[in-house]
Amino acid sequence: MSEVLVISNTKNFVQDSLKEAEGGHDWFHILRVYTNAKHILKSETTNSFIVEVASLLHDIADSKFHGGNEEIGPQKARAFLETQPIEQKDLEHVIKIIENVSYKGGHSHSDFHSKELEIVQDADRLDALGAIGIARTFNFGGFKNNPIYDPSVPAHPQQSKEDYKKSNSPTINHFYEKLLLLKDKMNTNSAKSIAEKRHNYMVSYLDQFYKEWHGEL
Ligand code: ADP
Ligand code: NI
Repeated sequence: MSEVLVISNTKNFVQDSLKEAEGGHDWFHILRVYTNAKHILKSETTNSFIVEVASLLHDIADSKFHGGNEEIGPQKARAFLETQPIEQKDLEHVIKIIENVSYKGGHSHSDFHSKELEIVQDADRLDALGAIGIARTFNFGGFKNNPIYDPSVPAHPQQSKEDYKKSNSPTINHFYEKLLLLKDKMNTNSAKSIAEKRHNYMVSYLDQFYKEWHGEL
């Protein structure tokens, strides 16, 4: 009973908090991640309450939009959850997931692992792929005023977390620095098969992009 209440309160809190968010990290991103997570949950035996609450709160204050501060998201989530009828151990688990879900150029320094984290991570990564992933990426590039593409600027798939985060390289490079690497990083089988389809869609998108770039009519 209290779980239903906490989920409903969390939805209201997140929707309200993200009113001004960038288009790729707004309430609709959260809703898609939440839907992805519920889909993955159908094939996994795990604590669905933790997965649902963490997927709703995972981008409550993304460090990208808070001067690189990685503490503020977990802090906001904790302050909210402390007002809710949730067990302390569940609260701590949700916070751990929020701290560890982010891609950060593929660099993670934590030894925290849980099935619930794996599911939220997959659900978030799926929303970085396919048609939606392309839309989000160009929206973010526009938000940062980055160029769409510059053939003289090579992509750096292996860059450090710091370089990845402060990169102002062309948006097309982001496909090689993150998006095309994601399908091999999925944790669950259901996410792997969705990722495969969305990956192939992005590969054909890039193919068409270069054709048009080079004036193939
Ligand atoms: P996470 O939020 O999972 O840690 P990121 O912060 O790297 O992952 O990115 C989330 C989404 O924001 C990406 O999938 C992409 O759409 C967009 N994004 C992040 N960095 C860039 C970038 N440098 N250029 C274009 N899009 C980006
Ligand atoms: Ni996200």
